[in-house]
Amino acid sequence: MNHAAVAALLIAAAFAAAPLPSGAQNGTFPFFKCNAKTPYNFPGVSRSYNNGTYCGTLVVTPLKNASDPCANADLRKIEVNINPACDVKNTIVKATINGVPTAVSPSFFVPAGAPEGSYALRLTQLGLDQGNDGDNICITLSAKTPGAANACTKLESLCQAPPGAPPGTCVAALVDTTLRCCAVTEVRPTGVTPARPPPRLTCFYMHPRATPAAGTPFKGEVKGCQWAADNMLKSAVLAEIAAVGAVMDERVTPFSNCSEENAVKSTTNFCWAFNSSAEGAKMQEWAVNLVTKLRLEAIGYETKYKCSPWLIGHQMDVIFGGYGIYPDIPPGDINADANKDAPTNVSSIVCTPDLSTLNYPKCTCNTTMRNTRFGVQNWVYTYPGRKPTTTLYCFTVDVFNATDPTSPCGRTDTLFKAEIWGDDKQRQKLKGIAIQPVGAKNFIYRSPSWGAPGDQTIKVSQLNWTPQQANGSKICLELDSNTDIDSFCMFGLKTCWINFFDESLACCPLYPSTAVDKLFEGIV
Ligand SMILES: *[C@@H]1O[C@H](CO)[C@@H](O)[C@H](O)[C@H]1NC(C)=O
Ligand SMILES: *[C@@H]1O[C@H](CO)[C@@H](O)[C@H](O)[C@H]1NC(C)=O
Ligand SMILES: *[C@@H]1O[C@H](CO)[C@@H](O)[C@H](O)[C@H]1NC(C)=O
Ligand SMILES: *[C@@H]1O[C@H](CO)[C@@H](O)[C@H](O)[C@H]1NC(C)=O
Ligand SMILES: *[C@@H]1O[C@H](CO)[C@@H](O)[C@H](O)[C@H]1NC(C)=O
Ligand SMILES: *[C@@H]1O[C@H](CO)[C@@H](O)[C@H](O)[C@H]1NC(C)=O
Ligand SMILES: *[C@@H]1O[C@H](CO)[C@@H](O)[C@H](O)[C@H]1NC(C)=O
Ligand SMILES: *[C@@H]1O[C@H](CO)[C@@H](O)[C@H](O)[C@H]1NC(C)=O
Ligand SMILES: *[C@@H]1O[C@H](CO)[C@@H](O)[C@H](O)[C@H]1NC(C)=O
Repeated sequence: MNHAAVAALLIAAAFAAAPLPSGAQNGTFPFFKCNAKTPYNFPGVSRSYNNGTYCGTLVVTPLKNASDPCANADLRKIEVNINPACDVKNTIVKATINGVPTAVSPSFFVPAGAPEGSYALRLTQLGLDQGNDGDNICITLSAKTPGAANACTKLESLCQAPPGAPPGTCVAALVDTTLRCCAVTEVRPTGVTPARPPPRLTCFYMHPRATPAAGTPFKGEVKGCQWAADNMLKSAVLAEIAAVGAVMDERVTPFSNCSEENAVKSTTNFCWAFNSSAEGAKMQEWAVNLVTKLRLEAIGYETKYKCSPWLIGHQMDVIFGGYGIYPDIPPGDINADANKDAPTNVSSIVCTPDLSTLNYPKCTCNTTMRNTRFGVQNWVYTYPGRKPTTTLYCFTVDVFNATDPTSPCGRTDTLFKAEIWGDDKQRQKLKGIAIQPVGAKNFIYRSPSWGAPGDQTIKVSQLNWTPQQANGSKICLELDSNTDIDSFCMFGLKTCWINFFDESLACCPLYPSTAVDKLFEGIV
């Protein structure tokens, strides 16, 4: 959101909190000034099922007067006048838009300035605008405790119908973000609209899961999440839908959600809706085969490396199901799960790279991951160097519990020095070493330092960091832009290997870290 939008929201919030001018409220719902025009309406509401789910179709009718201040209004919230006899404490209301639960669950509240006993129901942060014409908005009513006497599980008991209107008629205020464009409307079940079930979402998920063999925990990346969503999930699903001619529910635009939150949890997803379960069934067998195939393909099992270094010690969860927050996934119109549906000889494979080309380090020390507390995050990030012709490739130090904290390596409390596997023959391409301990504002530059010719070792000595200083610190190579990370770091897959020594030099856990920006370069 831009600053102007944030400011507008804050101002709007300030207005909302301020006492309303007394003339603005006259004791009727919604108890604040609400008599503008709005482009939104729910002309026909039909009870979809006899189970408490009610759905309405949002109809957008642009205002005739395009200069009306409300001509471009959004639809942020809907408030509904509640029957005072309804036991709101025992009533649960859930809402969905095109089958996706709303970001904020509906809640009951006592409107400011309303007479004693009044309640309203608020659906907010709907995020709807004039592009959402035809959206299917549903609420589902249920009792908190089964059989609670006054829980209102029907519109007839939930809504306070206006005088003279049939029971089940609801009075709703449709409000925009500015709170200025607000209109009161009556929404009544017509019973004539043939009930069409709300769309039922089916989603495809991928999630790398750490096993005890994991070196460092996999940290997701928005870019990587988006890449996998577009190139593995979306393209596979849409191609198969086209191939088998499965009919989709046109009310749902297929979507993926690579929010920061999902990316950090490293859950990649892609969701869509079939027109019916029978359409989904056409793809069931394909889905079972696909989750089996992707279980291994997504960890790089079929490449010469056998395993992508950023997934060492991980397994890939690959799942088709309904819409949920991973790992809580309800059934969908396709259901397949690599953990259950793949043959055991496939599902049991853990990402284990072929390290036969890793002839590093040249010294003798214990390189086992996690034998000390010092490790590295799985992604190297790039930053501009000191000159336009140089680039910084930065490792981020990670501090965690050693596998055996009581062993000689595990007791290490100092990150004495770091070394990186690099190509001796490209010494002149390394223009500097930059470090940034936790708390330092800027990079501190050092001259490059190499081990003996043939050792292929870049030295970052005399760090002497405590765990607190090390945790989140950066160690960077400043490379001439005319080399590339694959040839400079030698292993391939845009991956560099770094190890961290203790003072005795006996412990030197070795970790890969991958230049994620470069990994997707040319692919995305
Ligand atoms: C109170 O508000 C309602 C709905 O906006 C309006 O129809 C009515 O005329 C108002 N009454 C007074 C006294 O302002
Ligand atoms: C009502 O039925 C519909 C369609 O079967 C279903 O999607 C919904 O979850 C049901 N609601 C409840 C509360 O059981
Ligand atoms: C259209 O809205 C503008 C702004 O509120 C107003 O000045 C103008 O009179 C309106 N035009 C008509 C035809 O109602
Ligand atoms: C994306 O996913 C996150 C976490 O599951 C959720 O909180 C958020 O509401 C989702 N965003 C959209 C636009 O669906
Ligand atoms: C999708 O389903 C609806 C109602 O279930 C039906 O009216 C419509 O014809 C279907 N669309 C297609 C393309 O089959
Ligand atoms: C698993 O076993 C099947 C059948 O024996 C075989 O075809 C397949 O190649 C095996 N897969 C792996 C990854 O070993
Ligand atoms: C290296 O350290 C690990 C973990 O502390 C230990 O299990 C392993 O035996 C050590 N390897 C050697 C060769 O000492
Ligand atoms: C790390 O070790 C400490 C102290 O033994 C323990 O309290 C903590 O739970 C451990 N953390 C993890 C993530 O295992
Ligand atoms: C390292 O930093 C991370 C994130 O700031 C924190 O969650 C973690 O507890 C820290 N670890 C140690 C050992 O201080």
